[in-house]
Amino acid sequence: MKKEIMGCLLGILLCIPCFLKAQDTAKIYHEQYRPQIHFSPQRHWINDPNGMVFYKGTYHLFFQYYPDGTTWGPMHWGHAVSQDLMHWKELPIALYPDSLGYIFSGSAVADSNNTSGFGNKEKMPLVAIFTNHDPVGEKEGKNDFQNQSLAYSLDNGFSWTKYSKNPVLRNPGIRDFRDPKVIWYAMEKKWVMTLATKDRITFYSSPDLKSWKKESEFGEKLGAHGGVWECPDLFPMKLNGKTYWTLIVNVNPGGPNGGSATQYFIGHFDGNKFTQIDSTIKWLDYGPDEYAGVTWSNTGARRIFLGWMSNWEYANQVPTKKWRNAMTIPKELGLKKVGGRILLTSNPLKELTGIERAPVNLNRNLLTGKGIKGLSSQFVLKFNINKLNDYSITLSNDVGEALIIGYDNAKNQYFIHRAKSGKIDFNPAFSKTAFSPRLSNNSLEANIKIVVDVSSIELFADDGLTVMTSVFFPTQPFNQLHLKKSKGVIIKNLKLLPLKSIW
Ligand code: FRU
Repeated sequence: MKKEIMGCLLGILLCIPCFLKAQDTAKIYHEQYRPQIHFSPQRHWINDPNGMVFYKGTYHLFFQYYPDGTTWGPMHWGHAVSQDLMHWKELPIALYPDSLGYIFSGSAVADSNNTSGFGNKEKMPLVAIFTNHDPVGEKEGKNDFQNQSLAYSLDNGFSWTKYSKNPVLRNPGIRDFRDPKVIWYAMEKKWVMTLATKDRITFYSSPDLKSWKKESEFGEKLGAHGGVWECPDLFPMKLNGKTYWTLIVNVNPGGPNGGSATQYFIGHFDGNKFTQIDSTIKWLDYGPDEYAGVTWSNTGARRIFLGWMSNWEYANQVPTKKWRNAMTIPKELGLKKVGGRILLTSNPLKELTGIERAPVNLNRNLLTGKGIKGLSSQFVLKFNINKLNDYSITLSNDVGEALIIGYDNAKNQYFIHRAKSGKIDFNPAFSKTAFSPRLSNNSLEANIKIVVDVSSIELFADDGLTVMTSVFFPTQPFNQLHLKKSKGVIIKNLKLLPLKSIW
């Protein structure tokens, strides 16, 4: 008998840590507004995704992080890892501010040939290239307070050592000189750095990641210039067997719906120079809440994009308490020819299907306008439209707050209306309706996919040609869904897939 009691007690004791962990996760990741399918840090402030690199089966995500508060502050690189780009594990901070300043945005590469010499025969290095931002120099009104530095990891990205001879690329006197994105340019066996330099991009090259030579500039007076250029990216993709290069340039402010947003250029890159092939301004996401987005490195031909799901207009004021802001869902990028122009498409990753639950039986209520109740707070809704005309989808709750997303045929525009979506008064910019042109020229049919989370919606229309991301903060969770359509609109293949929480 005694033995049994002892065994039982031991069992209870052994179970306590698991129980506490489950309790912890329940508390941390389930507060009001906490995204259930998007990465957000357990606590405190987050902005840009940084240093995204895939290595030995693990996707590393670093991020601009302020561990001592819920507003922007001295920047560190926070760190999280995932095996499937959906479930994330937050790890200890990877990079702390140092004598050269805060750790601003940047990238990471797998230096598989040990060009940097940081590795050895057994261990190949991962190398992070980031901006050291010196707040003292900034305060003193200097022009050279942003410089590029290195850190390396010899344990597959889990711990990092700063290079003793930082910085490796010194500022020539440009106040905004930051956010290096580095790729391996195989044709010339060299590294290429794409750097945001105020109102243009400057390309540099290097044999070893340590010494950098200026190659060229791009973008003065080209594209959108409503604000400073930040967080660029450069990568090739194929369309019908031909290679095109995409140059991503984030801009703040000056986005299509105000504040910060991601624009891109399509063109050619020859290792020295980027030339665009059409001069129209193009946005990767027209919604108000995708910024600083760039792609993972070392993913082969796949281009996996992740953005910060916020806007500098109000990022410091959104009404969450323990943490502030989150990332978008990762997206797969592609190219598509539309009326002579080559455009980017972004779509939810196929990995998203890994967290889908069985589809909800929609009966006729959704299609006949009655709506459905008792929704899960995170889900995917998809359908096809035959015969284009106005339609909209409304998310709402029991106290009458609502977010409306839809299509206006007369204007050929998608829109997201969140003026009555709950808490909106923390910043006047937040209640503006966001619009996006419909970029597809297919007038016979459209396809729509929306990814909804506790406090965000991401629209992917026309195979990902028009994308809009928006956050919202209802005082009670949205638990109702209505579909409204004007005469003639035929909705087909309507599917509602609740999603499992990633936490
Ligand atoms: C973009 C940005 C970057 C900078 C970082 C600082 O959101 O302003 O240009 O490196 O944030 O946190």
